[in-house]
Amino acid sequence: MLGLKGVHAHYGSAHILHGVGLEVQAGQIVCLVGRNGAGKSTTLKAIMGMVPPSEGEITFQGERIDGRAPHLIAGLGLAWVPEDRRVFGSLSVDENIKVAAQATRRSSAANARDALGFFPDLVPRAGQLAKNLSGGQQQMLAIARALASSPELLMLDEPTEGLAPNMVKAIRVGILESRERGVSILVVEQNLRLALSVGDVFFVLSRGTVVFQGTRDELQAAPEIISEHLGIGQARELSAWRE
Ligand SMILES: Nc1ncnc2c1ncn2[C@@H]1O[C@H](COP(=O)(O)OP(=O)(O)OP(=O)(O)O)[C@@H](O)[C@H]1O
Ligand SMILES: [Mg+2]
Repeated sequence: MLGLKGVHAHYGSAHILHGVGLEVQAGQIVCLVGRNGAGKSTTLKAIMGMVPPSEGEITFQGERIDGRAPHLIAGLGLAWVPEDRRVFGSLSVDENIKVAAQATRRSSAANARDALGFFPDLVPRAGQLAKNLSGGQQQMLAIARALASSPELLMLDEPTEGLAPNMVKAIRVGILESRERGVSILVVEQNLRLALSVGDVFFVLSRGTVVFQGTRDELQAAPEIISEHLGIGQARELSAWRE
């Protein structure tokens, strides 16, 4: 449903993506992993049209989307939760979701109501101001808000960063639940353990290029890829986890 071919991107004169190739099939959870600064967030921004590619092709549902404006790309059914997961602090949980749902023609009041259901923790907090939620609850709200637009593909940028283990678990359940309901997912995730527990397919990015692509089993069978491109610590943690 989503395909990137030879995508290059720049910030001014800084050349960040060097021909990224990536694919998401309908119904998949695809994980994009790599060290800090590898270009993971830039890849998502290129897909959303926030950083227009300087070269290459991006297609979504068979249509070229590179070069289109971000709001047009979003209107095709692509939703993005950026790293900073900004919610409207002075609006309630409910209002945050309604505002997002109203911003798109794709959504209905029913979608907005259902969006909360992905995260049972949020349901009793529907009337609370978003600024009074914990970091984890704000992340859930940011994801619920993206789901309220009834996307075909949901892109999450480090959804569990800095969250307590019980919050990580809730986000994981929300990701799996979204897929159950027919939303495909592209997730950037530093927590390799979590990524391996949800991801079907993995793309490893290093200095703006994809250096590995494969299934969960293929990645787990390639500890050298993990230690070289994701860090020794993660490789160690992973082998301890498997034992
Ligand atoms: N707005 C910007 N202007 C200039 N350079 C930028 C900008 N945003 C990111 N960069 C640079 O682009 C490179 C890739 O950044 P990007 O945010 O895509 O990495 P990342 O893989 O998401 O890293 P992290 O794990 O730290 O989030 C980095 O070297 C970063 O410093
Ligand atoms: Mg990033």
